This record gives sequence, C-alpha cells and structure tokens, in this order.
Amino acid sequence: MQDLIVTLDGPAGSGKSTVARVLAQRLGLEFLDTGAMYRGITAMAIARGVDVHTETHLVNELVRHCEIGFDWATDPPRLHVRGQDLTGRLRDDDVTGGVSAVARLPAVREVMVREQQRIGREHPRLVTEGRDQGSVVFPGAAAKFFLEASPAVRAQRRADQMRAAGRRVDVERIREQITARDAADASRSVAPLICPEDAERIDTSEMQLDEVLDLLTARVRALP
Ligand code: C5P
Repeated sequence: MQDLIVTLDGPAGSGKSTVARVLAQRLGLEFLDTGAMYRGITAMAIARGVDVHTETHLVNELVRHCEIGFDWATDPPRLHVRGQDLTGRLRDDDVTGGVSAVARLPAVREVMVREQQRIGREHPRLVTEGRDQGSVVFPGAAAKFFLEASPAVRAQRRADQMRAAGRRVDVERIREQITARDAADASRSVAPLICPEDAERIDTSEMQLDEVLDLLTARVRALP
C-alpha cells in the first residue's frame, strides 16, 4: 500500500487531537500524538524531582538517555518512557504547566523529531498531530492541515473534555493556561508553532466535530 502521511498542527485546544484520532480511524491509518511525547518527557523529569523551568541542563541530560515509544497494540497507543507507562500522567496540571518549557529546548526537540521520523518510517500510513509536524518533522507529507479556533472556544472545549473525564474545571484558568502556552509555543526560537505555507488553514470555531472530520476526510480521499 502507498505511504500516506497526514499532518495536523495547531494551538492547544484547537480540537486537533480528537480530529486526528477519529480521522485516522476513518481512513484506516495510524495515529501519532506528538504532544504526548513532550508531555512524557516532562512527566519523567518531574518524577525525578527536576524543576523543568530552571534545571534545563538536567532535562537535556535526561532526554539524551530516554527511550520513549508507544505501544501500538493499544488504542489509542499508550506512551512508555524508559519502560514505564506514563499515559495516566500526561494531562495532569503540573505536566501541562511544564511542557512548553521542556518543548522549547533544542536538545529535546532534536531527539523528539528523530523519534517521530523513525515512527513515520515504521508506520508510514499515519495521521500525526502537534505543532511542527508539517513544517519540520514531515515536510513532504501528502496532506497538511492547520487547525485553529478562538481562545474562548478552545478553553470551553478543553473544559468539556475535562468534565467528561470527571475532573474539576475552572474555565477562566484553562483559558489563561491556553493563552500562555500559545505565546510560549509561538515565540520559541526552534520550530515555533506556525502554519506551514503549504497547509490548509481551517478555523473550527464555528464548526462541529463531524463537519471538520468530513472536510478533512474528503480532502485526503481526493488526493491523487
Ligand atoms: O498537543 P498538546 O497540548 O498535548 O502539546 C503539549 C505541548 O507540547 C505543547 O504546548 C507544545 O509546547 C509541545 N509540543 C510541541 N511540538 C509538538 C507537539 C507538542 O512543541 N509537535
């Protein structure tokens, strides 16, 4: 079967995780959540007592020796760092609060990009989502999308997800976190959050999940 890499980039809470996962199911492709990898490194560093905001040398050291990967037999794939399943920790507040500080480190990005490209070679029929998938990791992808939505809509969606998972929610705080993460991700010097020139930019603020999925499915099915 022909290789088919589809990239979905965009800011926090733009809906790309859900869209990417369901799009992959619809198209019979695998799904790669690259944010989970940055979150996994952050969770591992915190577990070792590292302050990810100040002790960057320790994060750099850790990432050099970390084995990170997914268990592709589970759906969605579970994340293992150094043999430890950290999936349950990835969305915790301390990890969300520290992940942008970890993701801006060039040494971390170098390892993550290499690992993601390796995953792409091993799973060449893939929907992958993140911040730099179309711009840096898979510049030759067959289809590239950039999803965005207003900060208020994104905060509300994240809050709904958390409520559905039985967590307590403060929408205003989520909105502040999202805005802070946007600013950090868009202003870093290595692989900042940008819309690749050859990506289709889609504002999902006024769209239902199904509408976004139908649009993307049609675009990918129409590829030569
Ligand atoms: O997508 P998610 O919210 O899980 O991503 C968490 C964080 O990981 C982002 O805020 C960003 O700092 C970082 N990230 C990144 N590059 C990616 C995916 C995520 O820098 N490809």
